[in-house]
Amino acid sequence: MRGLGRSDGAVRESAERDPAKFWEGQARLLDWHTPWDRALRWDPPRARWFEGGRINACYNALDRHPDKSKTAILWEAEDGASRSLSYSDLLSEAGRVAGALSSMGVSKGDRVAIYLPMVPELPISMLACARIGAIHAVVFSGFSAAALRQRLEDSGAKALITSDGMYRRGRALPLKPAADEAAAGLPVENTVVVRRTGQPVKMGPRDVWWDRLEGRAPAVPVESDHPLFILYTSGTTGKPKGVLHGTGGYLTHVHSTFRWAFDIRDSDTYYCTADIGWVTGHSYVAYGPLLCGATQVIYEGAPDHPDPERTWKVCAKYGATILYTTPTALRMLMRRGDPPAGCDLSGLRLLGSVGEPINPEVWRWYHDSVGGRRCPVIDTWWQTETGGMMVSALPGIEEAEPRPGSATFPIPGVRMSVLDESGAETRPGQRGFLTIDGPWPGMMLGLWGDEERHAQYWSKYPGKYYAGDYAMRDQDGYLWMLGRADDVLKVSGHRIGTAELESALVSHPGVAEAAVCGVPDEVRGESIVAFAVLREGASCSGEELAGWVREKMGAIAAPSRTHIVPRLPKTRSGKIMRRLLRDLAEGRNVGDTSTIEDPGAVSDVRAAIGRSPP
Ligand code: WT7
Repeated sequence: MRGLGRSDGAVRESAERDPAKFWEGQARLLDWHTPWDRALRWDPPRARWFEGGRINACYNALDRHPDKSKTAILWEAEDGASRSLSYSDLLSEAGRVAGALSSMGVSKGDRVAIYLPMVPELPISMLACARIGAIHAVVFSGFSAAALRQRLEDSGAKALITSDGMYRRGRALPLKPAADEAAAGLPVENTVVVRRTGQPVKMGPRDVWWDRLEGRAPAVPVESDHPLFILYTSGTTGKPKGVLHGTGGYLTHVHSTFRWAFDIRDSDTYYCTADIGWVTGHSYVAYGPLLCGATQVIYEGAPDHPDPERTWKVCAKYGATILYTTPTALRMLMRRGDPPAGCDLSGLRLLGSVGEPINPEVWRWYHDSVGGRRCPVIDTWWQTETGGMMVSALPGIEEAEPRPGSATFPIPGVRMSVLDESGAETRPGQRGFLTIDGPWPGMMLGLWGDEERHAQYWSKYPGKYYAGDYAMRDQDGYLWMLGRADDVLKVSGHRIGTAELESALVSHPGVAEAAVCGVPDEVRGESIVAFAVLREGASCSGEELAGWVREKMGAIAAPSRTHIVPRLPKTRSGKIMRRLLRDLAEGRNVGDTSTIEDPGAVSDVRAAIGRSPP
């Protein structure tokens, strides 16, 4: 690979020689209760990493650190208040909550749903579950009651941890009522309620306050492939997938990539802007930094409250040395101009990006205006399913000559291809489908309750994992990620399936049929455009339907435009022509329409778009 200088060439060399043996070396950097007998049992699509080994995630994140007086979390509340928690604070809290969960009857393998805003109690809850071998299922606090209910049902959650409310843009929003609505009639035995806003809540017989919990529990060693968590994400069907991650392999992957990518040092203050409700927050807020004994900043609120410079102010206030954020956030900030002179960002030494392709202009602005040209910028490509970073520059182990817009090379121990439809490797500069060519430690264990859908990842190209992304390699082997190749949208870096949106729309009593597509958005990457055909006699507006989707799924899924149309363009075999809808939504000329069953549908859609305000 050209462009790759070596400060520690040994890592890459040994990884290439024998990947499984290489990962064993990485796994040894964690504390195991019982050593494994076998590095890897690979029975596609199921991999068992470090079989026979027993380990505990919470023990590795907390108990094992010799200096527990070190600050683990610097928490910035939305109103500017702060709280500092040391490793020993986290340990006593996680132990207390773990003990209380045990006495409620939560035991190894039980699922605990967590529906909390970005408060320290969120990572503490996850660690408490991990401590006793319970499987956590975190549900993003911006999701609606209906979305939470679906996840509680699917995971069969035995307990739920939530809060009275949450702060968003200075307002105290209730959360407990949504949790109650979601859990009504389900076999959730206990709900633990964190006090955050102090707003009045109705406590039922199964509800307990977080601050009243009592208990103490030791870390229970679990089998290496015991599930650590379920995290729901969107796919190409109407039903979200419960991505299931294990313990030993996942922790190894996250621990190693966190050190390699961020070159983490004892004196660092790391700040990742991701919400723990998404995978970035699981791997690189809750687990990665704590496994490494790092100090990190966690910010509670909206990034643009009270003004869009909040991110810079938080960096300056805590002296952040590493910032890990998204292209969407950067585009929003870049529009406001350079960071204000009053914000001292001179402490920054490394910058990361994640979640969607980063435009070269934004990359350069990040590098020049945020990093003062002295900080490496790493673009990290990965997915909920991969558990941790798969493609990134790794300043902790080697130097890669940057190319703005390219995520550079796969991490050590991982091979990838860019293939055409027939499975042949594409030529440099040619777009193809990205695959991961063999197992890696952070790979998902499976999809909760859906073995068939899990197997599909490995069936398009035998022996290879199909990522669902377009990619390209240049002459020098650098990888360029070119966005999703399937019906999954990336709105502000969040994954939203068009099929899920469509099923939310057709669940409205007035809607007969719906189609959704994504159109490029300067800040958010993509935005959602919906088309709906109403039932006979029904009358409702586009805004009403957008509101319905917000209620069904959550605000992030609300379409930015919803057009009511008399009919949708379809092929003769009855398939909705989404590509054509996207052309129309973007105001492009549509090409060949000879396959349309009813060409009049095109002018109908065009007229509906023309009628709506821009
Ligand atoms: C999809 C996975 C990575 C954790 C957060 C998102 C896109 C992710 C990049 C990147 C271009 C990226 C891909 C991928 N993506 N990182 N650096 N450059 N695209 O996890 O919600 O599971 O989404 O995000 O399309 O498939 P996710």
